[in-house]
Amino acid sequence: MNDSTDKSSSPQRHADTRVVTAGRDPRSYHGFVNPPVYHASTVLYPSAEDFVAHRARYQYGRRGTPTTEALEGALAELEGPQCAGVALLPSGLAAITTALLSVVKSGDHLLVTDSAYGPTRNFCEQILTRLGISTTYFDPTAGPEIAEQFRPNTRALYLESPGSLSFDMQDVPALAKVAHDNGAVVLMDNTWATPLYFRPLEHGVDLAIQAGTKYIGGHSDVMLGTVSANAANVAALKQTVRLYGLCEGPDDVYLGLRGVRTLAVRLERHFKSGLAVARWLEQRPEVLRLLHPAMPSHSGHAIWKRDFSGASGLFSMVLKPVPQKAVYAFLDTLTLFGIGASWGGYESLAIPFDCTPARTATCWAPGGPTVRFHIGLEAVEDLLADLERGFAALAVAARAQ
Ligand SMILES: Cc1ncc(COP(=O)(O)O)c(C=O)c1O
Repeated sequence: MNDSTDKSSSPQRHADTRVVTAGRDPRSYHGFVNPPVYHASTVLYPSAEDFVAHRARYQYGRRGTPTTEALEGALAELEGPQCAGVALLPSGLAAITTALLSVVKSGDHLLVTDSAYGPTRNFCEQILTRLGISTTYFDPTAGPEIAEQFRPNTRALYLESPGSLSFDMQDVPALAKVAHDNGAVVLMDNTWATPLYFRPLEHGVDLAIQAGTKYIGGHSDVMLGTVSANAANVAALKQTVRLYGLCEGPDDVYLGLRGVRTLAVRLERHFKSGLAVARWLEQRPEVLRLLHPAMPSHSGHAIWKRDFSGASGLFSMVLKPVPQKAVYAFLDTLTLFGIGASWGGYESLAIPFDCTPARTATCWAPGGPTVRFHIGLEAVEDLLADLERGFAALAVAARAQ
């Protein structure tokens, strides 16, 4: 538990090794360790006959280059042997919407976890409804009883575990089984764990999505989305990407590939530091509870322990009731925690949030104000000292009310 050893395919090398070796073939690029970044649109064919017959290893910039193949190959290897192909998209949200569009058609019904990333819900409400596709949101903690919510036209089950902001854990294998028994495809946003800490395709998921913007990139300087598909779903995924004309810029593909090489060491540090900070916060008198799946106090801890081999640096905290102004004073006092949304970079972040507008199947009543943290690569001691100052400011602001 809690190392990045690949448990599910024992003859394979450790994940720590595969992030270094996957998708690399230095002999194909003159011995250089990394592939070149192909800035490319047109591909020149040797003859008119070859052009007409599409006889070429690469056909057009949008359709793939050695750089995109290197990242796709690396990610496929991390996902495990069930992965039949990877698509690269210009953002995590584009990966979500493209994966959904590759499985649904007009008249279909979709089951989506209630704690899905907010813009995923917006896409269902504002685009899929226009296409005649309806969505029902379900309690993320539902088990096999989810079967009751399947309709004859339910085409897909969409999961995200842990869920955005509230960190509810889902029983992915149990939910996937019900979906498959009902003829539905299973999609999952796996951005939080990455395939190093959870391999969705080996737990019944058909299409595994990542916002590569977060831990794959790892430096808050790239927008990237990835979808990994099993054999049954890869053709429809690739066709959807092709028909929509989607592709990712070469420099961003390269940054994603570069991020993969250090993913294991970065994640290990995010995991360790995140847990250390969460444990410290849990002891604070100002804190009601932590929403961190790797902590025994979390309601989904048993599922995390069973299915995941690590945790990232993202979790939430519920404070004992104080005026919102005191929460803002806490956040505004922090100097090592940026106030910003996109996590997974090397830096720590802290934001206030309220899930109320983004929940319809469950009731968001955490018992106090909520803050989401991303724990970066800084020294834990410095982060704790910063948080200590934040709590002092919170107390002053709360007394001033
Ligand atoms: C869980 C999750 N999925 C997807 C996304 C979307 O990624 P992107 O910002 O690359 O579109 C985010 C962004 O915050 C996220 O938190």
